[in-house]
Amino acid sequence: NMVTKGEYEHFMLKEIFEQPNTIANTIFSHLSDNDDRIYFEGLEELKKQLSKARRIIIVACGTSWHSGLIGEYLIEELARVPVEVEYASEFRYRNPIVREDDIVLAISQSGETADTLAALRYSKEQGATTFAVCNVYGSSMARECDFTAYTYAGVEIGVASTKAFTAQVAVLTMLAIAMGVENNILDDNRAVALITELRHIPELVEKTLQTDKAIEKIAKEFLDVNSFLYLGRGINFPIALEGALKLKEISYIHAEGYPAAEMKHGPIAMIDESLPTLIVGTNEAFYEKIVSNAQEVKARKGTIVAVVNEGDTELAAMADYVLTVPKVDELLQPILVAIPLHLFSYHIAVMKGCNVDQPRNLAKSVTVE
Ligand code: G6P
Repeated sequence: NMVTKGEYEHFMLKEIFEQPNTIANTIFSHLSDNDDRIYFEGLEELKKQLSKARRIIIVACGTSWHSGLIGEYLIEELARVPVEVEYASEFRYRNPIVREDDIVLAISQSGETADTLAALRYSKEQGATTFAVCNVYGSSMARECDFTAYTYAGVEIGVASTKAFTAQVAVLTMLAIAMGVENNILDDNRAVALITELRHIPELVEKTLQTDKAIEKIAKEFLDVNSFLYLGRGINFPIALEGALKLKEISYIHAEGYPAAEMKHGPIAMIDESLPTLIVGTNEAFYEKIVSNAQEVKARKGTIVAVVNEGDTELAAMADYVLTVPKVDELLQPILVAIPLHLFSYHIAVMKGCNVDQPRNLAKSVTVE
């Protein structure tokens, strides 16, 4: 069962363009057609445990850790269950407190990452319920956990994760909705509205992918920069981290993701003509705050690349370069914002002559330390 690049120059690009399908497969594998009910094996039992759980501890590494941070926003917002997100590598070595009424949720594309697996095994020994969101059927994590919800992203070959990430976020969104309904936090109307919008996400991903040529053109302007700052707020903060990580991984340009509101406590000191800033400005609730962050960057002569919703005027007018994504419920926005950020890094890396599918020093899954 050989996976080939087909018409694409790289696996990474192919995998980015597969997302309308991989997200649809993931969503529709967990959603019944007739009645908007979310489903995965063991979900009924898991929901009971989740509603009793004192807290959920998410453990993950790399890009999967960023989906974990988005999961934290989603679960706390929609289901009001406390969530902690941990780097598996830190968690396993610091004598963490894990109790029997905790649920430890591992997020992993491969299901084999050594640190994440070790964190899970430790948690199991402490008596916690273990739960995996992973992409590989029958992987170690899927076998060893009490519950597994699969992502259906298909085989991912590019070392830097793209389609597995958006599939993870889709599963976490559905999990948060299911928990919110179970816990009577989320009323049926809001749940149905979110699920209805989720059903349309694959089409909107398709639409976002059509901006690829425009993204490539913007990417060309940044081949010689030494460093990049990525800012986002709320549920888009983890997306800023993910955009920065992807740029580092494949183009070897230093990039730092930061919560936009924290900029004044450090990164603002670095801003001048030579340090460009990418600002994710799609959050409705914080929009004016994001605009004022952008003003602070402009006042210091920083170049701005803004990711905005279609129809945006204010932030788009201030930015030097604009990437657009369709507007959806704020909680669903990260999946769409991931697309231009991944493509932006991809094009910079390709134009710099980097090996995007196999970046130096990185491995697809780190199964040994
Ligand atoms: C490696 C890969 C990353 C990935 C991380 C976690 O560092 O290069 O792309 O996000 O491992 O992998 P996992 O399989 O656990 O999601």
